Amino acid sequence: MIDSITIERVMDAAEIVDVVSDFVTLRKRGVNMLGLCPFHNEKTPSFTVSPAKGIFKCFGCGKSGTSVHFIMEHETLNYPEAIKWLAKKYHIDVVEKEDSEEQKQQKDERESMMIVSAFAQKFFTRYLWNENEGRTIGLSYFRERSFRDDILKKFEVGFAPEGKLPFTEAAQKEGYRIEYLEKTGLTIKHDDWIRDRFAGRVMFPIHNLAGRAIAFGGRILKEDKNTSKYLNSPESEIYHKSKILYGIYQARREIVINNKCYLVEGYTDVLSMHQAGIENAVASSGTALTIDQLRLINRFTQNITIIYDGDAAGIKASLRGIDIVLEEGMNVKVLLLPDGDDPDSFAKKMGADGFQQYIKKNETDFIKFKTQLFLKETENDPLAKAQLISDVIRSIAVIPNDITRSVYIKECSKLLNVDEEILYNEIYKHKNKQTEDFRRKKTLSNIKQITSYKIEPEKFVTGLLVEELEFLRFLIKYCKTPLGKEEGENPHDPEVVNVDDFMINELEKDDLVSDNDLFKTIFNEIRENIDNESFDSLKYFIQHPNGNISKLATDLISEKFQESKRWSKAGAYTEKEEDILDRLIPKIVLEYKHRKIRFMLEAIEKKIDEASDCEKIREEELIKYMNLKRVEKLIADKLGNRTFI
Ligand code: CTP
Ligand code: MN
Repeated sequence: MIDSITIERVMDAAEIVDVVSDFVTLRKRGVNMLGLCPFHNEKTPSFTVSPAKGIFKCFGCGKSGTSVHFIMEHETLNYPEAIKWLAKKYHIDVVEKEDSEEQKQQKDERESMMIVSAFAQKFFTRYLWNENEGRTIGLSYFRERSFRDDILKKFEVGFAPEGKLPFTEAAQKEGYRIEYLEKTGLTIKHDDWIRDRFAGRVMFPIHNLAGRAIAFGGRILKEDKNTSKYLNSPESEIYHKSKILYGIYQARREIVINNKCYLVEGYTDVLSMHQAGIENAVASSGTALTIDQLRLINRFTQNITIIYDGDAAGIKASLRGIDIVLEEGMNVKVLLLPDGDDPDSFAKKMGADGFQQYIKKNETDFIKFKTQLFLKETENDPLAKAQLISDVIRSIAVIPNDITRSVYIKECSKLLNVDEEILYNEIYKHKNKQTEDFRRKKTLSNIKQITSYKIEPEKFVTGLLVEELEFLRFLIKYCKTPLGKEEGENPHDPEVVNVDDFMINELEKDDLVSDNDLFKTIFNEIRENIDNESFDSLKYFIQHPNGNISKLATDLISEKFQESKRWSKAGAYTEKEEDILDRLIPKIVLEYKHRKIRFMLEAIEKKIDEASDCEKIREEELIKYMNLKRVEKLIADKLGNRTFI
């Protein structure tokens, strides 16, 4: 575990605007800063940063948090990884507390895999440049294909030595554990044998957005029908093929500058395009484009040109996935290369200018391209033509922008020789159905957002009710705020009651503390500090070493940032939440109790149902039920009688 002083130092140093600005262009808007959200696709900025509060919040997708949470999301890191990432940025030494063996293993797994990958990348690269075998076989191969040294270095390519285990042995000698060599796929291990995965291949490391090597592609050097030309790292905890694009780290800046991304198929295509001066190119590495890859591009630009070098059949197959691109509001163009060329060979043949000119002249809108491609084969087949029309309609219907859509309709009406009006009607039908589906999906995801908190990087736990969240929000935020005075032991000297005294006492006396682990932890830690007047609850929980608690605390305060709807319905009142705590907090507590009791009632009902053959249990439960019902009524009355806004 990272010790809490380190976390505090990192939090103090990692000023939110400074951290976010590395990835998002922010403009000043009142006291806040505004930009395009890096976590979802949008055209008008709804991503807000509050320098005063030290948090960000996107009003589009709902993501929010501190600098640490921003880095967690953006770099797909877990909490301690994100703290370390920021510590590095701000040159802060990370002090770690000793974990239990089990904790250590769990947490270090991803990091260990990253470290092994980094070692492998350096090893292969060193081997290519400095070892005899690497130079004569690997480097000369790259040189034969006319790759320049600066390009080879930019992509950190390498060479894996021939033989059964030279790499694995070197790694083990340096202290890297076989477990992680195996998990990253660098070493293949079976019961009775073990060998290097990539022996004798030139190596293309695949980097994540932060520039760390997370996987490899290795190419054989001889033409050999029996061995596949490329071998790739297997999927692992750090490498999800469908979520990453080859070259994105090297291309990201140019993609933003040019506001355009070229998508090619292969490793060497990317290298050659960079070499020809077209540096905004990435590769899908032979797979069909996925929605996650698309979102990755979408963070940097809306404009993508897909460069095809295959045959018609291959292209048709790959087009199927592309409607998703349109749905995301991206502007897709397609470019076909002359027969027999791929971007690698073509770039080398034409040079930068020639290639760029060819692109300008030949890139075509995706829908037009698709229509033309299929039109040829529908000439004498009315059924196929009808199919094509409905297909095109579907593609156009998902385009979110009205103007773009109408341009496509016009064009396709001409190409397909169908009335514009017919196309409009059909598209309209499709759109209605879509909107309905979308609305349903969106409602569901909103509900999920309120009640789900991350427990472990990938696991979610739902179960915090809105009332529980609201309870925690007030408890954390206004912990030591005096609520009023109450008669104590001495009737002439009333005691000051703080928010924490009141809220904690209310739940404990009725035995209604939530069963939720996050809730219990926060509740108990506040209770432990009930007499500690200098306890800064907000700071304490935001900087909590448990990342889930820290995230929850930040979410809860950024709720206010969003202007809590409950208390500030437009025009309903002008008071601030903190000015009416004496009225609000009892209500929050009551609402919490009410909800909790309704839950308990449901559980009892179930028990009574299940105990249909045991009269004794039924009777006992029924008595509990009646008692609780009475309490519920009391609370409901109190809630109903109070006139809150
Ligand atoms: N690919 C793969 N496994 C294979 C073949 C291909 O992963 N057995 C992926 C690689 O990322 C490769 C891309 O698909 O770069 C395109 O394949 P291909 O066109 O066959 O190779 P090129 O990129 O042209 O490779 P080279 O120029 O080195 O021959
Ligand atoms: Mn090629």
